[in-house]
Amino acid sequence: MTLKSLVHLYVKKLNKAGIASAQKEIRLLIREIIGINLENQIIDEDLLLSKNQKILIQEALNRRLNREPINRILNKTTFRDFELSLNRNTFAPRKETELLIDIIINLNLEPNKILELGTGSGAISIALMRIFPKCECISTDINQISLKTANQNARKNNVLKQINFICCNWLDIFVNFDFNVIIANPPYIKSEVIESLDPEVKCYDPIISLDGGKYGLDSYKKIILGFVQKRFINNSVIIFEIGHDQAEEVKNLMKEAKIMKIKVFRDYSNQARFILGVKKKTVFSDK
Ligand SMILES: C[S@@+](CC[C@H](N)C(=O)[O-])C[C@H]1O[C@@H](n2cnc3c(N)ncnc32)[C@H](O)[C@@H]1O
Repeated sequence: MTLKSLVHLYVKKLNKAGIASAQKEIRLLIREIIGINLENQIIDEDLLLSKNQKILIQEALNRRLNREPINRILNKTTFRDFELSLNRNTFAPRKETELLIDIIINLNLEPNKILELGTGSGAISIALMRIFPKCECISTDINQISLKTANQNARKNNVLKQINFICCNWLDIFVNFDFNVIIANPPYIKSEVIESLDPEVKCYDPIISLDGGKYGLDSYKKIILGFVQKRFINNSVIIFEIGHDQAEEVKNLMKEAKIMKIKVFRDYSNQARFILGVKKKTVFSDK
């Protein structure tokens, strides 16, 4: 079988399975699995594939045909300009989330201590530690296996020294807050919506990283309630990623927790995607 005939065959099959960007995905898998770069795939399209090459690539393409995302087939993904390992226990970071890093850079905060709640693959924390080499970070998750992957990703990207990974339930173990920046991209999908998500999401991202409860707000409520109960030693900037229709509800929860200067940021599709606020240093009376 030639490269060209394999590509044609699978473009048809993947399109039929509802995968729109079939050609692009096939070429990427060919490059990653049998090591033929994109240029050579075009120049040498009559290349005859060896039996072994054919088996390897067909195996991967058949997985894609079953709607397994490419990053799951390859067990890796890229976030901004670096690579992350993934496995079945780790949420695959999304393109939209990359913008959060730019928002933080543009705030000119010069952070020295960051807390990330629900770090997943470690994408956000690792990106920030690469940008702020003098900064330290505590990155948490309730999923111990995911934390192990995040730890490996931090090592691979040379920022392990800056990050402390802790397995805990949202803010349960924290007493005082001396962080400049607190970040969370928690599970925010309404439970009843999960069944209608694309198979790439509902079958491959861990459910604990998706399910935000009946109204999608459970995690925000728990985290924000935690803020009310803690003592803030510095003024802290708090940033959440949110579902596109959750800005008003999360804003109200933040106001109730006396979080000030609330601002919503939109993503490249003009959807409300991030919400930021400032929690002032706690002042205690002497009485
Ligand atoms: C939507 S994923 C985001 C992962 C990563 N921050 C990112 O943006 O790619 C949500 C993460 O929150 C974690 N999580 C869910 N419930 C949690 C809890 N009660 N305490 C801490 N982390 C939790 C999940 O395991 C998952 O890694």
